Amino acid sequence: MKGKFIVLEGPDRCGKSTQAKLLYNYLLEQGADVVLTREPGGTPTAEKIRQILLEPELDVRPVAELLLYEASRAQHTQEKIIPALHEGKIVICERYTMSTAAYQGYARGLDLKMIETLNKIATTGLKPDLTLVFLMSDKYFSSRGEYLFSDRLEREDKEFRDNMRQGYKNLVSRTENAYLLDADTDVDMIHHKVIDLLKAHHITDLCLSVKS
Ligand SMILES: Nc1ncnc2c1ncn2[C@@H]1O[C@H](COP(=O)(O)OP(=O)(O)OP(=O)(O)O)[C@@H](O)[C@H]1O
Ligand SMILES: [Mg+2]
Repeated sequence: MKGKFIVLEGPDRCGKSTQAKLLYNYLLEQGADVVLTREPGGTPTAEKIRQILLEPELDVRPVAELLLYEASRAQHTQEKIIPALHEGKIVICERYTMSTAAYQGYARGLDLKMIETLNKIATTGLKPDLTLVFLMSDKYFSSRGEYLFSDRLEREDKEFRDNMRQGYKNLVSRTENAYLLDADTDVDMIHHKVIDLLKAHHITDLCLSVKS
């Protein structure tokens, strides 16, 4: 495919949206044709599925949840990501297959092989050209954003977050073109590391070809 597919990954509040916007603006300034999107969601149908997934009152069982994520991904991949890549665009996506393996697999305990199979079906085998995983220490978790947690909830969630974080590390170690970035450092420093990785992977070459 002519375009390049960049995925930003990591636990809640690690800075994905912050970095995605900075990267989007940087690439626009460089003259690239760039699309910023996210999962779950990214198209009208997939955003409807997102609403179900993010509705706390609904009873959604773990396997149903997994299938909803994959349904959203299948729609998003076919309707938006693949066509944009065919047109030579750079697609930046917040969360993709690795989130499902980290959350539904490592943290919730669903079978990783099953998740891998479903990811392949939903993506039709599409793989990111670059996956950037932002990991921050747990001590920063409650201080980022406007969320407030009771001690009990925070303790219960900690095991989930630890499993997910370990899951991300395992996944990065066996995924091509995937990198861990320290999300504890400041926003600009992280942004510069992101740009360095894009350059190292020749993704910024697309900007120059658009410009000339
Ligand atoms: N490197 C950083 N250092 C300190 N604070 C940060 C950093 N990056 C982002 N933040 C702040 O942390 C909060 C969460 O950031 P952001 O929304 O980018 O994370 P996210 O990974 O997209 O979260 P979510 O998973 O909820 O979508 C925001 O208030 C943001 O301003
Ligand atoms: Mg976000």
